[in-house]
Amino acid sequence: MKFLTFFLFLLTSTFAYSESFKALSLERKQAFTNIEDNLDLIIDNAEVDELDWSTLVLISQDLNEDIKFLKQSFPHKSFENTRARERIWSNLEDFEQRFSELESAVHNISHSIEKKDKRQVIENWDAAGDTCNACHRRYRTFW
Ligand code: HEC
Repeated sequence: MKFLTFFLFLLTSTFAYSESFKALSLERKQAFTNIEDNLDLIIDNAEVDELDWSTLVLISQDLNEDIKFLKQSFPHKSFENTRARERIWSNLEDFEQRFSELESAVHNISHSIEKKDKRQVIENWDAAGDTCNACHRRYRTFW
């Protein structure tokens, strides 16, 4: 009986454990998708003659929120039932370095928007976009 209880405990806790990464992964997916959409919005807004700087400020605040969320959303080995690869945690420095490249590009976008510098907005937008594929190739599963 004791054994059965222990077995059931093990089974349910393993289930809850992997389920919880699934939930976390959905939140990560939401944040990354938001970043993708907001970067699209920024370039759409930056390609017109009269830039709507107050809208751009709001978009960049949203971007920074998602970056902040993602920065603390890869707890140790949270890969089960997600598209994150296990190898993130055996190459954590490299993963964090790549994430911080995205983070600084997003910070630089905000600063360029504060300075109302259209050319720099576009340059930093390019820099943000350069980080996506390289990280996905190494650390995101194909499906
Ligand atoms: C430091 C690594 C890293 C960088 C940089 C990065 N991503 Fe990702 N991205 C990931 C990982 C890992 C996942 C999978 C997360 C999961 O499944 O929990 C992911 C997931 C996503 C998803 C969700 C896809 C899905 O179907 O689950 C989107 C959309 C996305 N990224 C877009 C982007 C865009 C756009 C950029 C660049 C602006 C970017 N990412 C930069 C690592 C990164």
